[in-house]
Amino acid sequence: MLLHGLLAVLAATGAMAHPKVVDGRLEQRGLEDRAVVEERELATRASTATACSYTITSYSTVASGVASKCNNLVLKAFTVPAGKALDLSGLATNTNVNMKGDITFASGTNWAGPLFVIKGTNVNFQGNGYTFNGNGQDYWDTKGSNGGVTKPKMAKISNSGSFRNAIFLNTPVQAISVGATSPLTIAGVTIDNRAGNTLSGGSALGHNTDCFDVSASNVLIDSNKCYNQDDCLAINKGTNITFSNNYCNGGHGISIGSIQSDVVVKTVVIKGNAIVNNTNALRIKTVYGATNASVTDVTYKGNAASGTTTYGVDIQQDYENGSPTGTATSGVKIKNVVFSGTNKIGMASSGKQAYVLCGSGTCTGFDFTGLCFTGGSKGSVSGVSSITGFTLGSQTCS
Ligand SMILES: *[C@@H]1O[C@H](CO)[C@@H](O)[C@H](O)[C@H]1NC(C)=O
Ligand SMILES: *[C@@H]1O[C@H](CO)[C@@H](O)[C@H](O)[C@H]1NC(C)=O
Ligand SMILES: *[C@@H]1O[C@H](CO)[C@@H](O)[C@H](O)[C@H]1NC(C)=O
Repeated sequence: MLLHGLLAVLAATGAMAHPKVVDGRLEQRGLEDRAVVEERELATRASTATACSYTITSYSTVASGVASKCNNLVLKAFTVPAGKALDLSGLATNTNVNMKGDITFASGTNWAGPLFVIKGTNVNFQGNGYTFNGNGQDYWDTKGSNGGVTKPKMAKISNSGSFRNAIFLNTPVQAISVGATSPLTIAGVTIDNRAGNTLSGGSALGHNTDCFDVSASNVLIDSNKCYNQDDCLAINKGTNITFSNNYCNGGHGISIGSIQSDVVVKTVVIKGNAIVNNTNALRIKTVYGATNASVTDVTYKGNAASGTTTYGVDIQQDYENGSPTGTATSGVKIKNVVFSGTNKIGMASSGKQAYVLCGSGTCTGFDFTGLCFTGGSKGSVSGVSSITGFTLGSQTCS
């Protein structure tokens, strides 16, 4: 359109009436380039937020709110119909979103979700303590994503910028998938799936309710609270991921993995977290038979766990969903895993302090100097030739 317009104007003013034979095409090409560039600039401008405010008061006004490109979007209380998502994936650059009411996701449709999606450059989401209610209790059947009814994932957060101070209540299955690649901070978020601890036939109703599943780079996840029945954190891939000062209650602990084939995880810092009544505290699990993958430069610092029922520190290379094989494979390299400062891991009487099962030559640069345990039994270490600063069973907290 723009190109045609320009050419029309130039033709009308006679600028193109007598093009030189030799460089006429070049001249036209030059115009084309300029037009393309202008069009691109227009597009960029159009996707940057402008100074205005739009209040989204119902599900039916979400799309108009996003399309407004206003830099201030307000989310009032409303209900998202069953089988639908609250889709903020088209946000303009520099948008601020403010919650001013609770948002409920109606149940009644068994689909995969996610119920909430947010994406955009330099987007800052402020939850102001309001709640996204996933109505998980209407889906929970003890089977999570391994069976039973199809359950929607709760949220996919892929914006750069920040996501703060929202509560996710009763997520049907996995709570937050983090997919950002540019700097993102997630802070002050609470995931509350305590209602899923209710037993049915001896099993918790909520299952696979991971709080943070991370396949992302340049992410800081700080000062959040997680009450659930699976991993507090599971890092599947990515570089430069910090998980700090979080509170994890009732789940399976803080994990890197399960690491599949063809994946890189690098530069992970896990510090200052409280891990209360989890099955495991700190884990790295790689999938049995996985190849061409690596986990490099992981630092644990100042973490504290209590009531850990299965493993305190668990690094295992035989992982299969639910039933590890007991035999480690060697296709995933785990390099430079360092416990620095003091990491105090309190075990329940049933728990084993350490369980390390590495493939041959795959675990190197392990330094467990800053690691101590209370309670439990010592566990076992195999497949790794030496761990600096560590003697199994003698690493008692003073
Ligand atoms: C690492 O991630 C943090 C948190 O998002 C970010 O502030 C920092 O700039 C990133 N570092 C690099 C080298 O990109
Ligand atoms: C190994 O993994 C990387 C990604 O980390 C991928 O780009 C590469 O293609 C993989 N190599 C093979 C042989 O599959
Ligand atoms: C941790 O588990 C113990 C034993 O079941 C229980 O008494 C305690 O209240 C739990 N603590 C928290 C904070 O959940």
